[in-house]
Amino acid sequence: DIGPIFGDEPALAQRIAEYAGQPVAAVAADTYDQALVAAKKVAIEYEELPPVLSIEEAWEKEKFIYKPPKIIYGDAEGAIAKASHVIDGDVFCGGQDHFYLETHIALAVPGEDRDMTVYSSTQHPTEVQHGVSHVLGVAQNDITIEVRRMGGGFGGKESQPTIIAAIAALLADRTRKPVKLRLRRDDDMIATGKRHDFLFKYRIGFDDDGRIEGAVIDMAARCGNVADLSGGVVARALCHGDNAYYIPNALFRGWPCKTNTVSNTAFRGFGGPQGMIAIETVIEHIAHELGKSVDDIRAANWYGTEDRNVTPYQQPVTDNIMPELADRLAKEIDLPGRRKAIDAFNACHISLKKGIAMMPVKFGISFNAPMLNQAGALVHVYTDGSVHLNHGGTEMGQGLFVKVAQVVSSVFQVDIDNVKISATRTDKVPNTAPTAASAGSDLNGMAAFNAAEEIKGRMAGVVAEHFHVSPDNIEFRQNRVYAGNESLSFAEAAQLTWNQRVSLSATGYYRTPDIHWDGESMTGSPFYYFTYGACVAEVAIDTLTGESRVLAADILQDVGSSLNPAIDIGQIEGAFVQGMGWLTSEELVWDDKGRLMTHGPSTYKIPGSRDVPEHFKVHILNDAPNCVPTIFRSKAVGEPPLMLSIAVWLALRDAVARTGGYKYLPRLNAPATPEAILTALEDIKIREET
Ligand code: MTE
Ligand code: HPA
Ligand code: MOS
Repeated sequence: DIGPIFGDEPALAQRIAEYAGQPVAAVAADTYDQALVAAKKVAIEYEELPPVLSIEEAWEKEKFIYKPPKIIYGDAEGAIAKASHVIDGDVFCGGQDHFYLETHIALAVPGEDRDMTVYSSTQHPTEVQHGVSHVLGVAQNDITIEVRRMGGGFGGKESQPTIIAAIAALLADRTRKPVKLRLRRDDDMIATGKRHDFLFKYRIGFDDDGRIEGAVIDMAARCGNVADLSGGVVARALCHGDNAYYIPNALFRGWPCKTNTVSNTAFRGFGGPQGMIAIETVIEHIAHELGKSVDDIRAANWYGTEDRNVTPYQQPVTDNIMPELADRLAKEIDLPGRRKAIDAFNACHISLKKGIAMMPVKFGISFNAPMLNQAGALVHVYTDGSVHLNHGGTEMGQGLFVKVAQVVSSVFQVDIDNVKISATRTDKVPNTAPTAASAGSDLNGMAAFNAAEEIKGRMAGVVAEHFHVSPDNIEFRQNRVYAGNESLSFAEAAQLTWNQRVSLSATGYYRTPDIHWDGESMTGSPFYYFTYGACVAEVAIDTLTGESRVLAADILQDVGSSLNPAIDIGQIEGAFVQGMGWLTSEELVWDDKGRLMTHGPSTYKIPGSRDVPEHFKVHILNDAPNCVPTIFRSKAVGEPPLMLSIAVWLALRDAVARTGGYKYLPRLNAPATPEAILTALEDIKIREET
């Protein structure tokens, strides 16, 4: 049993395979090809049981994976009953495969006694350590997990690697030989979890200005066969069903549907993008109902600063910069002018139609399980002045290792090349949280800062004594340690510290302050702060084929005081394009027996370089230090910009709505594939004719 939160997840299916493609056996062989051939020869006799495959069916039959949660704030039903306008509707958004370039992999190497070292592609070494120790029936101190880096994780390697590592370790333990388990792309896609698809139903009451008075939103998620991280994902969806808007009376219900499909898991945004799709559909629907612009509806509903500033889960929003940020972007790119230009274009084009939309994003930073918001680091200074850095975070391409090394180099004021970034290992920094929730640099950066500061203080004491000055007069600058006009190189200072028998090694620890969460009542202040951003996307659709293209995207993203603008811009660009893929071309299809039909790049279309908008301008909000004391006042950046891509989906809906002169609300779910767009266009034509 390797379930991360609820113990309900067998590494290999025992009596019942709960979804088509669930691993039931593992074969060890001398070569990869032999193993593949041998695995094909395994004959399994299945007795087919009737599966529950869709969210609708599971919801109707009340097949839930855990007790359905809800957020209750004020009296939503009462407010809707009294409201002058009421709308209802539904919307669906699909799941998403992570499609990291490196598929899941683990190399298990047996050591003395029952020791085992596992090199695992995991965002969560500690959880892999727990899973492997559990499966082998040994203590945690018998197991060491090492991660040099991953070829992408995106949430797909937060909990899923345990099964791969556990199977490799089991075979290595039995054979006393090293065993590597590497999944082929198809197996990776079939047997590991994806983003949760969601079905939303909403009923909203609002006033003549479009100000929401009451909102009931049901959020039903496909969790798959086991719980995995679905509790956290659904909770985060519920906690982002407000996005940037104040909802005075809210009832948000989560429906964690148990289906006979692979267990879904973390994916960049962790339910947040899905929750935002729901509320943004609502905003658009209100605008449609009142015949007003979505900008006006947004403006009427923004969180306030003094009042109207409490979320449905009762966290006060104290750092709100959303209205200014959105206004600024709209002005800078002349949103009204761009809308007019699109009117003009559409008026003189018959088959091509353009659309445009803005997407504001407010994303809560911290794991929504408070205990995960802690981190450790280990720093050594050697007597030649070189620095060894280790921390509990993992590198998956997001630039965490460089950011944390920058922190240490900046504490010691030594060149970053002087800081060795070592692989993540559970025997160096134990009991870690996953590198997830975008909190990697917040948590590990601060832990490394604390470790480095500790050593720096000791070194300062030694150097102060050496020069007969007070430690307050010691300054670390440009690879040297200064006492007034006198100085030592950093290396000399390190050597001197050792000579004086003062330790040059320290651990650092950090826990996020001021957060709390009651999972039963779904209330508290789970987020240390919010990261804000806005995007305007312009698209064109071909009304004859349903094909679409993103023509332009302009982004303004708050990252606090950026730790590394180059990395942050890369994160914003990557997140946006990844989100674009989710909402436009990446479609997961199962057949009626629950077999995943889209398990490779030939049938599952991720964005390519030519899908990146030709006009793609990413700007970081300047002079916007975090108002809470994070590491150098930076903000988390990994996930928030993914949600900016919802602008693309909204722009596609805008383009479709324009074909009917805005008379009809488009029926277009996500992903807005060519088929879906064509169907939505057809639907508007039919409504026009009847
Ligand atoms: N960027 C790259 N290149 N590869 C990844 O796998 N994962 C994303 C994001 N950016 C990812 C990425 C996800 S899901 C998260 S939670 C964060 O990075 C995790 O890293 P951080 O906390 O250090 O930002
Ligand atoms: N994000 C990512 N992973 C998590 C979270 C979260 O908020 N909570 C628990 N695991
Ligand atoms: Mo990211 S989904 O929190 O790994």
